[in-house]
Amino acid sequence: MELALDITVTVNGTEVRRRVEARQHLVDFLRDELGLTGSHIGCEHGVCGACTVRVNGEIVRGCLMLAVQADGCRVDTVEGLSDSKELARLQKAFHEKNALQCGFCTPGMLMAAQDLVSQKKKFSREEIREHLSGNYCRCTGYQAIVDAIDEVVNG
Ligand code: FES
Ligand code: FES
Repeated sequence: MELALDITVTVNGTEVRRRVEARQHLVDFLRDELGLTGSHIGCEHGVCGACTVRVNGEIVRGCLMLAVQADGCRVDTVEGLSDSKELARLQKAFHEKNALQCGFCTPGMLMAAQDLVSQKKKFSREEIREHLSGNYCRCTGYQAIVDAIDEVVNG
């Protein structure tokens, strides 16, 4: 039988308690246990950024962190930041600049971009690209994504 552990995590402001398998990744916990399917699973080894979530204020790869490692932590997902309107300006800019096509990468892109926006500083386009370098998009060619983030952080 798999080793299972009890964890308590505050997800998008709500405390949840669950018994989870020790080997379950955080992104699988969020998607399969809590139904928060906004965090996507692409590469499953920390390369594509589709699974990006925030843990105690820092963006992390949900596929590289175990659910048990989030015990006692605050976890925020794209759903939570969308509901709280924290992402509103970025979502509007992505829409207006056509910064998404299939949308698979978009939740991770928004989470990574918000990490810049929340610093309340100006960033060059090169710095924006550097910050997004761990988030892959197979559709847009990145130009429109950088345009959208540029508008929000420098507009
Ligand atoms: S699924 Fe986590 S980085 Fe690709
Ligand atoms: S919009 Fe399709 S992967 Fe980015």
